[in-house]
Amino acid sequence: MTKLMKIFPALVIAVLATGASAFSATSVVASSHDLSATGKDVQGAAGQAQNQVCVYCHMPHNAVNVGAPLWNRTNSTTSFQMYSAANSSTFQLNAADTNTVARPVGPVSLACLSCHDGVTAFNSLNQGPMIDLDAALPVGGILPGSYTFQSGAVVVTNMTGASAPGPASATIGTDLTNDHPISFTFDAALATLKGSTLRDPTTALTNVGTTGALVILRAGNVAANTISSQMLFTKNGAGVQNQLECASCHEPHMQGDLTAASNYPFLIKSNQNSNLCLTCHNK
Ligand code: HEC
Ligand code: HEC
Ligand code: HEC
Ligand code: HEC
Repeated sequence: MTKLMKIFPALVIAVLATGASAFSATSVVASSHDLSATGKDVQGAAGQAQNQVCVYCHMPHNAVNVGAPLWNRTNSTTSFQMYSAANSSTFQLNAADTNTVARPVGPVSLACLSCHDGVTAFNSLNQGPMIDLDAALPVGGILPGSYTFQSGAVVVTNMTGASAPGPASATIGTDLTNDHPISFTFDAALATLKGSTLRDPTTALTNVGTTGALVILRAGNVAANTISSQMLFTKNGAGVQNQLECASCHEPHMQGDLTAASNYPFLIKSNQNSNLCLTCHNK
């Protein structure tokens, strides 16, 4: 707590003062991303292994080698339509770069889209949880697809259709041409190409305004507090951190629905006064 107080004194005090939640604002527990029995929007059905939180996304063993670290979900197999040169002045300018050619969705974004594509099933796990503390004894590995998710009383299979949880907007879908570009290289060369309108991601991160700080310092290292170290990812888990992905703007492990924290929806920093946008764009 003391270390946290040093980094986010205002945030910690706000949470303590309101007493709104027993969980830290930077915990996934009890958020929309908690799919356990006590999860907020989607819950594992009663009588089934559902008392873990991380397991619906991560598994300590036998993880799949795609998506986010130790990923436990079968990634989306749908093909995506990417934001491309046709929609963009930038990507047309940047003809020398691979940004203009058809590009695959990067691993981290693919992880998000394994639920948010509206197609892939919530229970499309690589491996079910082995421990069910609700049962008398721990059970063996539960087969993927052998249990049910619900939103209140309604059974939900994926993030689309009449039984979809929450607002329909949570479905990003497979057409990404109308979404902020992802899975492309954001480096000093691109910043140079765009002149002063785009910040150089390898220099110190500019915190804009009073709500300008990131909610979670990922590298935990102020010396490496750049856009690239905090907000960008490697391509296929290797090389330089220069890929812009869904998790550049979103932090999946937090109370993203706690409107009081002003980081709804799961934003890595508040977008009040468009401060999130202004972190990268100098407009
Ligand atoms: C709804 C899905 C989801 C849940 C639930 C989830 N994670 Fe993650 N996790 C992700 C995604 C996506 C990434 C990759 C993006 C990133 O680094 O933020 C990730 C990355 C990570 C990383 C590596 C990057 C880092 O921030 O250090 C760790 C460690 C991690 N998760 C731990 C956990 C733990 C522990 C839990 C349970 C308390 C958990 N996660 C629950 C989706 C999830
Ligand atoms: C295991 C499935 C799963 C994964 C993986 C996942 N999400 Fe979610 N996400 C959900 C569910 C379920 C909700 C709640 C939907 C609702 O009630 O509207 C949600 C809600 C959200 C919301 C809030 C939407 C709203 O309108 O309230 C955002 C933003 C979001 N997720 C972004 C992400 C990002 C970015 C990633 C990857 C870093 C990710 N999610 C990974 C299942 C997932
Ligand atoms: C450049 C930053 C950025 C990137 C990249 C990004 N998002 Fe978002 N996202 C936002 C902001 C900001 C909002 C809130 C928009 C608002 O104020 O209505 C949002 C909203 C959402 C919502 C809530 C529903 C909605 O339509 O507003 C979901 C779900 C979501 N994002 C998922 C994703 C997923 C999945 C990806 C990757 C495919 C992604 N986001 C990439 C910035 C981003
Ligand atoms: C992590 C850094 C980052 C954040 C945060 C971010 N962007 Fe971007 N955005 C980029 C980069 C890099 C590009 C591609 C280069 C460019 O067009 O300037 C881009 C592209 C765009 C484009 C398309 C430009 C074109 O011609 O194709 C728009 C519009 C845009 N962003 C708006 C926003 C808005 C609005 C927000 C806040 C909700 C936002 N961005 C947040 C980095 C970011």
